[in-house]
Amino acid sequence: MQDFIPKPLIPFLRKDLNPNYISEERGILKYLNPDFLQGDNDKYMKFYNRLAPFYDFGERWIGWLKYGNSVAEMRRKMMQLLEWKDNASVLYVSIGTGKDFKYMPQNINIKTLSLVGIDISEAMLRRAQKVWKDKLNLSLVNCPAEDLPFDDNSFDIVFHVGGINFFSDKQRAIDEMLRVAKPNTLLMIADETQDFIRDQYQKNVFSKEAYKDAHFDLTEIQNSIPNSVTDRQTHFLWDNRFYAITFRKTAD
Ligand SMILES: C[S@@+](CC[C@H](N)C(=O)[O-])C[C@H]1O[C@@H](n2cnc3c(N)ncnc32)[C@H](O)[C@@H]1O
Repeated sequence: MQDFIPKPLIPFLRKDLNPNYISEERGILKYLNPDFLQGDNDKYMKFYNRLAPFYDFGERWIGWLKYGNSVAEMRRKMMQLLEWKDNASVLYVSIGTGKDFKYMPQNINIKTLSLVGIDISEAMLRRAQKVWKDKLNLSLVNCPAEDLPFDDNSFDIVFHVGGINFFSDKQRAIDEMLRVAKPNTLLMIADETQDFIRDQYQKNVFSKEAYKDAHFDLTEIQNSIPNSVTDRQTHFLWDNRFYAITFRKTAD
């Protein structure tokens, strides 16, 4: 294993990583497989790299002016759908700036968690690093969700918020999340509904160009979750603007 790999990540990494894709820069591990940096992934990576400096400001102020505390309330409810426990290993796919860590259930000692966040946008990860590095045990990896550099059965909690609707390969990202989750883990996949994309993203000055042709179908995501899972449930939050699908990985 290369000696630049941040120590907290070593127990989670696959043994067969392609050395051509791996590097490290200022505390962030990169595993960038070019096969998954094309099409929509390339488009949204560039979009979020540009948006990163304004992302938290947008939710904190523009979002607050329009929706009040309801965004924070939605994030709090979403975090409660997961089965948190102290000392868990946690993977957040598409962590962005890591906003959800503000909304963890109160009974969890967040400092006991081994947190790993991945994102295709390095600029979003840099924001997360700035906000959380002294507060949490958080390791960051710049990679597409479709090729996670982690070993099978590695994490107690695995979840994704806010990007999958437009991933280049949704099926593969879901398969990857299931692969790296330990047996019996409850996973969650959450994102905006088509109504919200139309009413917000396709009208907002920052996002309307990137999302102008965007359309997604929730059943495509639901159908990409294999039949082998149990406890499958689709929750609608924030007056149907957001969906969260939870499902459990069964023992092999
Ligand atoms: C709307 S933001 C959500 C960020 C964060 N989860 C939140 O709730 O604030 C979408 C995120 O998905 C990331 N993303 C988009 N496509 C991705 C992919 N294929 N793999 C991993 N992350 C991706 C973007 O870079 C961005 O950070």
